[in-house]
Amino acid sequence: MFTRDATGAALLGGARLADLFDAGDLSTPAYVYDLDAIDAGAMALAAGFGSQRHLVAFAVKANSAGPIVRSLAALGVGIDAVSGAEMALALGAGTPADRIVMSGVAKTDAELDAAIGVGATGILSIQAESTEELPRIEARAKALGRIARVSLRVNPGIEADTHAYIATGHDEAKFGIPKAELGAAIEAALSTPHIALVGVSSHIGSQLTSTEEYTTAARMLLDVVSGVDAALAGVGRPALELVDFGGGFGIDYGDGCDATPADFARAAATLVKQARREHMLVVVEPGRSLVGSHGVLVASTIMQKRARPNDAARRWVMIDAGMNDLLRPALYRAVHRIEGLESHEPAAEPTRIVGPVCESSDDFGTHALSEPPPKRVVIRDAGAYGFTMASEYNGRALPIEVFLRNGAVSAVHTPRRVDAWVRERLGESG
Ligand code: LLP
Repeated sequence: MFTRDATGAALLGGARLADLFDAGDLSTPAYVYDLDAIDAGAMALAAGFGSQRHLVAFAVKANSAGPIVRSLAALGVGIDAVSGAEMALALGAGTPADRIVMSGVAKTDAELDAAIGVGATGILSIQAESTEELPRIEARAKALGRIARVSLRVNPGIEADTHAYIATGHDEAKFGIPKAELGAAIEAALSTPHIALVGVSSHIGSQLTSTEEYTTAARMLLDVVSGVDAALAGVGRPALELVDFGGGFGIDYGDGCDATPADFARAAATLVKQARREHMLVVVEPGRSLVGSHGVLVASTIMQKRARPNDAARRWVMIDAGMNDLLRPALYRAVHRIEGLESHEPAAEPTRIVGPVCESSDDFGTHALSEPPPKRVVIRDAGAYGFTMASEYNGRALPIEVFLRNGAVSAVHTPRRVDAWVRERLGESG
């Protein structure tokens, strides 16, 4: 958890962040994660299900760092993977195949083969996102001599109250099977001998700050379960095993978040009970909510710049983290709180905090910082969709990652340095 001590210094997971960087071994920009808080959050979410059978499948696209994925796997958390590489990562971190689900609108044959072929029966569920995908899955399963375990991902046609780029459950989104086409999809799935229809799923979008739309989608999905079960019974096939309500649980980026992940779990369990489907495995796919608040990006101030264009005083603080390290502000205009690392005593005059990348969008927005600016800053709530969306744009090395356990550094990941980047671009590596 991010807090401040009596001197005002930033703490993560009990560790004084300034001390870690003053020791000299760690460079900036650096992501720092609190493994204990991530574990505790996952357990709190699972507890929300009460006695309901469930699987928390971490959407690993939010954070694919080995120490985090291994730690969650050890707690029995599963994985929602969206590529063959993410699936291989999950397996490598110790996640059993029967705790992995795979989403994605355009899975390749190689990815389908890996999902169908792993372990005794393949992964728990391949989420089919279109009617057209079903014959492709059937063909791969037939070629492998296996039965593919498939769920239908339904697009519930719900407009989630979130940024347009991360809303996925509306009519124009490329995701999922529109409700109107579900009958045809069910028919297609039931006429295929190498597909076992095991579930239905939906995901309406990300950063949901109340449970309202989620439960609307969940109710709709439970109606779909009834329809599919009736169709399955009609052809003498077993009823569905699982219902997957997706992820999207929001976090507090500074302007509040009314619902906790456990609230979503409780709401799901209640609906499942009301629908008399307690026997089913309830799957959720949280990404952001398991890691977002438990990671920060630490950056150093490079310099301050002042200018008076049109007599308007401007102040910029330039830091050594840019949009290549944390893309969310540039891509979504997302606001992450930025504060001094050693203390946070903001001056009255607001300042624009920007990175070194040659793009106007390399801008973290307007914040309150001390004058002169702090030597280092902490960019908060950067544990989700931070490192996983980072790039080497402008020839910048990927940031390092630091993992804290029991208030101490337990691992440091150092991606390739810029000299390796130079050799690779010149075609001189390997
Ligand atoms: N399941 C499916 C099918 C998804 O598409 C996603 C996210 C999740 C689960 C996990 O959603 P979460 O619990 O993390 O909200 N890069 C954006 C977020 C993109 C989300 C994409 N899909 C951001 O930085 O806000």
